[in-house]
Amino acid sequence: MTATVLSRADEAFCRVREVIPAVEWATMADDVEAIWRLKRERNAVILAHNYMTPEIFHGVSDITGDSLALARKAIDVDADVIVLAGVHFMAETAKLLNPEKTVLIPDLQAGCSLAESITPADVIALRRAHPGVPVVTYVNTSAAVKAESDICCTSGNAEQVIASLGTERVIMIPDQYLAANTAARTGVEIITHPGACEVHERFTPTDIRQIRADYPGVTVIAHPECPPAVVAEADFAGSTAAMVDFVAVNQPERVALITECSMSDNVAQLYPQLEFIRPCNLCPHMKRNTLATIRRSLETMTHEVRVDTAVAERAKRAVDRMLAVK
Ligand code: 13P
Ligand code: SF4
Repeated sequence: MTATVLSRADEAFCRVREVIPAVEWATMADDVEAIWRLKRERNAVILAHNYMTPEIFHGVSDITGDSLALARKAIDVDADVIVLAGVHFMAETAKLLNPEKTVLIPDLQAGCSLAESITPADVIALRRAHPGVPVVTYVNTSAAVKAESDICCTSGNAEQVIASLGTERVIMIPDQYLAANTAARTGVEIITHPGACEVHERFTPTDIRQIRADYPGVTVIAHPECPPAVVAEADFAGSTAAMVDFVAVNQPERVALITECSMSDNVAQLYPQLEFIRPCNLCPHMKRNTLATIRRSLETMTHEVRVDTAVAERAKRAVDRMLAVK
């Protein structure tokens, strides 16, 4: 009897079969097979954010996680090429940490409303207005904005980063809601900037109350980019990685993840016994990553992300300082 050798696409299908029907997978298998072949030929790895669709997240990625995990794991990548399946600021962060590697983003238009909301000049003006107050910058910003900052943070470590500064006041930019949610948890006075995530700011407290009325017993988990009134209605708030951990530890029978749509699909694949209520909003920037754009990226080695050397040096300092916080 001979053992059946599964193709890469067949193997990948085993990892998504709870959330992608076989008939749909049949339209994806050719791209999945090609991406695995191209990764081998290019000595490339794919880093994928938790908001990637399941065929990318479970099907072709090598490293997955929230913004913090992707930054941490980028340091240890042993490959010539990194394809960042996420948005532009994530690719820039990977480049800051891997200046000698080729970092590709499948679609240059994959931006972020938070990164768009603030410029280096805004940071300089805030510093002038509040002399001596440290500037904590969310990673969802350009390298040029990071370069004007003292330290970065993500939604996964904002409290620890602020505690590490030991000051009563901080400037925390550019997400006004992450800033307000962090101020509530730390008691530190936070000066912020009127930026918001276009995905999370659309959720309302009424949405959460309606979910609880429609799905009795549901556990509600919100991302801290949501407005504080939404976080107040939730049972737990945390980064996308904290959401995954919460589900893994607590195994709530019925759960609603108040965040981008693909999160629930990716977690549901791991816990088919749990009921996922999916009141999600799509991030149009994250959704610029598809199997087709990733395949093209590896075929043509585009789009390469570069950061000006002088900017990179200063921006990396702020990222490194964040990564040193335990
Ligand atoms: P985290 O994955 O770090 O929680 O961030 C969510 C997000 O919106 C990234 O763009
Ligand atoms: Fe930016 Fe929000 Fe999209 Fe994340 S989900 S990339 S914060 S717009």
